[in-house]
Amino acid sequence: MAMLTIVGWCLTFVHVSFVAIYFYLTWYHKYWDKRGAITAEPLTILGTYPGILVNKSRSLILDVQEVYNKYKDKYRAVGTFITRQPQLLILDPALAHEILVDKFSHFRDTITSSFVGHNPEDKYVERSPFFSSGEEWKRRRTENVGGLTPNRLKQAFAIWEQSGRKLVEYIERARREKGDVIETRDLSYRFTADTMADFIWGIDAGSLSGSVGEIASFQKVSTDWTVYAFSSIIRFNKSLVATFVRKLFNMRIFTKASDEFFLRLTQDAVNLRRGGSGEGRTDFLSHLIQLQERGNSIHDSVGHALVVHLDGYETSGAVLYHMLYSLSEHREEQEKLRSEILDALASNDNISYEQLNALPYLDQCVNESLRLTTPIGFFMRICTKATQIDLGNEKILELEPGVTVMIPAFQYHHDDAFYPEASEFRPDRFENGAASAFNKRGIFLPFGDGPRICLGMRVGQLSVKTAIFHILSNYLVEQTKKVPLGADTGLGIFLNGDVELKYTKLRK
Ligand code: HEM
Ligand SMILES: *[C@@H]1O[C@H](CO)[C@@H](O)[C@H](O)[C@H]1NC(C)=O
Ligand SMILES: *[C@@H]1O[C@H](CO)[C@@H](O)[C@H](O)[C@H]1NC(C)=O
Ligand SMILES: *[C@@H]1O[C@H](CO)[C@@H](O)[C@H](O)[C@H]1NC(C)=O
Ligand SMILES: *[C@@H]1O[C@H](CO)[C@@H](O)[C@H](O)[C@H]1NC(C)=O
Repeated sequence: MAMLTIVGWCLTFVHVSFVAIYFYLTWYHKYWDKRGAITAEPLTILGTYPGILVNKSRSLILDVQEVYNKYKDKYRAVGTFITRQPQLLILDPALAHEILVDKFSHFRDTITSSFVGHNPEDKYVERSPFFSSGEEWKRRRTENVGGLTPNRLKQAFAIWEQSGRKLVEYIERARREKGDVIETRDLSYRFTADTMADFIWGIDAGSLSGSVGEIASFQKVSTDWTVYAFSSIIRFNKSLVATFVRKLFNMRIFTKASDEFFLRLTQDAVNLRRGGSGEGRTDFLSHLIQLQERGNSIHDSVGHALVVHLDGYETSGAVLYHMLYSLSEHREEQEKLRSEILDALASNDNISYEQLNALPYLDQCVNESLRLTTPIGFFMRICTKATQIDLGNEKILELEPGVTVMIPAFQYHHDDAFYPEASEFRPDRFENGAASAFNKRGIFLPFGDGPRICLGMRVGQLSVKTAIFHILSNYLVEQTKKVPLGADTGLGIFLNGDVELKYTKLRK
């Protein structure tokens, strides 16, 4: 008898729990209906994109693609649920442009800014504009971009030039020791590690100067750190289902070990520079030291350094190997680009910052690569001030503060309606300054747009352009085998596997 009662109680408890969890998860599901917007189907108790919670091998970008394809021709925006939170998916790029640019004051914050604050020990991440909000964001951003002005990059251009020459020397050594075929993902990250270490900390990362194939400690820490940071962003998105777990598990975006490594590195770099080494050099370190003289702490400097390093190393490296892969596949385009580069070199041994940025076809090829790769495939913004969204068909949606919107840049970039044969690498699309028109229509957003546009846009472009310039002026780049595109658990769709390209020295 007593036994039965216990079983009975247990069963009741289990049922009540399930019902409670069910209500917790589906609490808001009528949210969009009540406000006159369409709710994207199918809707599960885990939201519109259950993949972010259950299927590890599936990127959110594919789930978004399904919803996008289904509704894009009929609606300007549809209601979705990121786990249990309502989110508006913007299908019409014109509406995306409006949100990012014209209505910025209503959508000031990014979702990532809600990821920090619960864990005071994660002190460098909250110093990044990417992860901060409101006035704090503005101050951090202004301080950071002061170190990345065109004028400063021009003065620091010798760093990129030197990295370009080291890259060619490294390729030469690799060819001598291991043959003409070089894994190009590795090669690309070696280059971006080298430029960032020198620009930010004034050191040689050892990624191009060490022995072939060896991974120097700077690059090893950087890779572990970026991999952890990007996977954290995914973990935090998952935790939207119950945000209190962030505090419960003391979730972090940067690891303690990497924080300590970069603190020591920055301290040493500041001391060395103050002691006279590299005196008079204009780079990011000299900017950090100026800020410290005006009252910033060493921790502020580490924070700023890591902002530049995160994407200057990882995202720019990703764009570079995708671009090299596309050029190896498209020989005609590679030849056209090479002749532009060799023409620029005909009158001078070295190229200047201005000349490099004024090469029109190089710019087109970079933009086409950015479009195809779209390493940051979607942006989420929080509505910070109530506003109206014109849904079309004379329907106006009243959007309230706290609700988020998703802008699926990857989907716009891969839509045949905007870019005929969108999966093809065709730099001619960007002839005659077409980019600015695409940008105004909201269909070309590799760096986002509006006041929160990527603050390192010029740095990323500079790294990619410099590497391409040095490689194409010295080597013919050929494909040895196809690499499939795959959506991993990461933030996009990338070449999935080793990128083995063949480098043949050009006769001069
Ligand atoms: C080619 C490489 C790069 C690409 C494709 C890229 C792309 C983007 C995109 C799409 C955004 C906007 C996200 C949003 O609106 O939510 C963004 C923001 C940002 N990027 Fe980049 N980025 C690149 C390189 C860099 C570099 C080199 C840096 C640092 C120097 C950097 C620092 C940032 C920061 C701090 C933000 C946040 C800005 C803010 O919220 O005010 N990025 N990036
Ligand atoms: C997970 O996603 C992969 C890749 O899209 C798919 O092939 C697989 O069937 C999915 N698994 C489940 C259990 O949904
Ligand atoms: C090109 O740059 C290198 C390295 O800074 C320098 O040694 C060389 O003299 C320069 N050549 C010309 C023609 O300016
Ligand atoms: C490429 O894109 C950038 C930034 O989006 C833009 O400033 C530039 O003019 C574009 N260039 C070309 C050739 O389309
Ligand atoms: C997580 O959210 C951020 C916030 O905008 C977004 O950029 C990122 O792509 C999301 N990633 C995944 C895998 O959910």
